[in-house]
Amino acid sequence: MDFKSIEVIGKSPNSLDSLAPYVGKMRPELVDWLIKKFAYPQGTIYDPFSGSGTVLLEGWKNGYHVIGSDLNEYAIVLSKGKMNPYINEQVALEKLAIYKTRVNRWLLRNREVQVPQWVSQFYHPDTLREVCAWTRVLRYNKEWFFLSCLLGILHHQRPGFLSYPSSHGAPYLRTNKYPKEDYPDMYEYREVFPRLEAKIARVYKKIPRLDYSIEREVYKKDATKMKMIGKLVETIITSPPYMKSLTYARDNRLRLWFLGIEDWQKLDQSISPDRNYFFEEMKCCFKNWYKMQPPEGICVLVVGNLETKYKGEKHKIPDVLVEIARPYYCLFDSYIDPIPEKRKVVKGNTKVKQEVVLVFRRR
Ligand SMILES: C[S@@+](CC[C@H](N)C(=O)[O-])C[C@H]1O[C@@H](n2cnc3c(N)ncnc32)[C@H](O)[C@@H]1O
Repeated sequence: MDFKSIEVIGKSPNSLDSLAPYVGKMRPELVDWLIKKFAYPQGTIYDPFSGSGTVLLEGWKNGYHVIGSDLNEYAIVLSKGKMNPYINEQVALEKLAIYKTRVNRWLLRNREVQVPQWVSQFYHPDTLREVCAWTRVLRYNKEWFFLSCLLGILHHQRPGFLSYPSSHGAPYLRTNKYPKEDYPDMYEYREVFPRLEAKIARVYKKIPRLDYSIEREVYKKDATKMKMIGKLVETIITSPPYMKSLTYARDNRLRLWFLGIEDWQKLDQSISPDRNYFFEEMKCCFKNWYKMQPPEGICVLVVGNLETKYKGEKHKIPDVLVEIARPYYCLFDSYIDPIPEKRKVVKGNTKVKQEVVLVFRRR
């Protein structure tokens, strides 16, 4: 397969896009470029593996009706958060102050919280109780934007974050690098409210211009089973979860726990598929997408340029996908994009060095 090179220059400042980290997140500027170059001039953009909602946000920014789906609860909360920010910072902070009162009431009623040790080891006990209160109150009230902001400050070593010193992407304590005896302030109680307020203020510093009258839909649905009833999707843009190269539940296990998902291993069995299962899933998807799209509908896939075994022989993933898609889609363009180390959420992940963009047209 011949690849053209992608020329995406610069990064558009957009703090809504970085509400909270997500492994395997697409570069927003690449998505913006894909939309401008390949999407139908109007209509709907659908991302069936929507993760943190990068395609949804860029689609919304560009004036499209957007639909996303994913099976990971954290991805759903984050996407709904990005799709539903308050209209401005003042309105958001006024609403947050109301929730502060409800959180305080929750704290008065719940003196003890049951938390497993692998979670409690990340927090000062008073901070932990507050984090439990805030996550429960915000979840109960479906406050996805505030909840996403809270998940974005859940763990890291900086003062604006809530945990003991730990990494920001996947949750690992950094107690060896920052021992308590040398850094006692990093182990003190951290009040949630002022940190959440500061995070929200940061988000509104570089928020893009958005049209709130445009429809945005996010579903917790399996991409292999997702059906659109009564509407056609002109453009699909997505990056599927190929071959266990990233583990979406394990790397978000702490955030998932606060969202009520305790068994992250079980979740990873369905959202981080291995080789054979991935290709079976993609067969189902192409078949579904064919039914959802009009003739000549556009389907853009962003995948790793990895070598794999398929039907007993070695192939590159993009070649297998073109083969699987053939009854429904023909390939009309392909691009390659190297991934520099600084862009990886899981540093040192050596499996995926390049990403490939495959642009299909529905038959
Ligand atoms: C590469 S990530 C997508 C990242 C996204 N483009 C972003 O920018 O954040 C793949 C996503 O597919 C989701 N996923 C895996 N299997 C799925 C399935 N069968 N149905 C729906 N979503 C699935 C994972 O939870 C993960 O969020």
